[in-house]
Amino acid sequence: MVSLSPFLNLPATLAWEDDCLRILDQTRLPQATVIENLTDAHAVWRAIHELRVRGAPAIGVAAAYGLCVAMQDARDLPIEAFREALEERAAYLDSARPTAVNLSWSLKRMLRVAERSTARDASLLYRELVDEAVRIHGEDQALCEQIGRHGMTLIAPGSGVLTHCNAGALATTGLGTATAPIYLAQRAGVAFHVYADETRPLLQGARLTAYELQQAGVDVTLITDGMAASMIAEKRVDVVIVGADRVAANGDFANKIGTLSLAIVARYFKVPFYVACPSSTLDLQTPDGSAIVIEERRDDEVTHVGGQPVAPEGVKVRNPAFDVTPHDLVTGYITERGIIAAPFDTQFATLFGETT
Ligand code: MRU
Repeated sequence: MVSLSPFLNLPATLAWEDDCLRILDQTRLPQATVIENLTDAHAVWRAIHELRVRGAPAIGVAAAYGLCVAMQDARDLPIEAFREALEERAAYLDSARPTAVNLSWSLKRMLRVAERSTARDASLLYRELVDEAVRIHGEDQALCEQIGRHGMTLIAPGSGVLTHCNAGALATTGLGTATAPIYLAQRAGVAFHVYADETRPLLQGARLTAYELQQAGVDVTLITDGMAASMIAEKRVDVVIVGADRVAANGDFANKIGTLSLAIVARYFKVPFYVACPSSTLDLQTPDGSAIVIEERRDDEVTHVGGQPVAPEGVKVRNPAFDVTPHDLVTGYITERGIIAAPFDTQFATLFGETT
């Protein structure tokens, strides 16, 4: 049985049921709705690495539950051995993908529970870990809603919104980040139009964003990445809203490859460019974008489309999954605490210095 997102006409990104982590396999969408049970650490690592569960906030929630799954066969161990295994397995899950900071953020939160726990029995500590994962999950849903409330003020009646990749419900366990303002504006009866970039090479915009917006009845048009500039030049776009995988202390941020060119075009044509993200995506330990590690993925993601070769065999390929947009191209960050304008370094430190 497929559980449904409590928010939208969509299958849930993931669910924790009877101590099992179930995920919606996003590599199969929109053609097939396939739910996978992840039963050990390796299965969780692979699901994250292979993008079956993806999007920064969703990766964070999946990793928290995933660590619980990874510890299930250690519940009979003496408490010290359980703690040692916990550290090792958290480090292993953390290696699944390097760029989205939500992965290490949520695993660190899980490890902090163990550090503070006075449990003398591994099965009791395991339950505390599950409770923390459930909290991280609930908070993710609430953060999306708050981002949506603040961000919906940016969507005026009759306007055009452009988004890139999938920073949607499928990338979170709630309303999404970039899509939360879209869903709440739609719910408030505002009439507007969304352009979704297809997002080469893995087509998260076409396969996921166009799918979930269409399921929700949002007026959406799919475009290829190369069309975005002319849509903006033709004044069809009033605001660009994207998500983020990691935001550095000075406001530089990493997001899906192609975001940087969109930000440059938006600046050239004087269209506001917003980044929607929860505080769990802020990495105030990283001073600026140059220190963000960018994931490089396999060549065949570029040379093949839908399993079919589209390039000459043996051609040289680059496949960075993300790019870094400098902070001075960002009009504002839509966070759970409101819309933040520059200077981002001092604003982030003041608003989130304690929590991140
Ligand atoms: O490689 P992906 O599909 O995990 O990349 C996702 C993105 O780049 C999203 O824009 C980002 O994680 C924000 S999700 C709310």
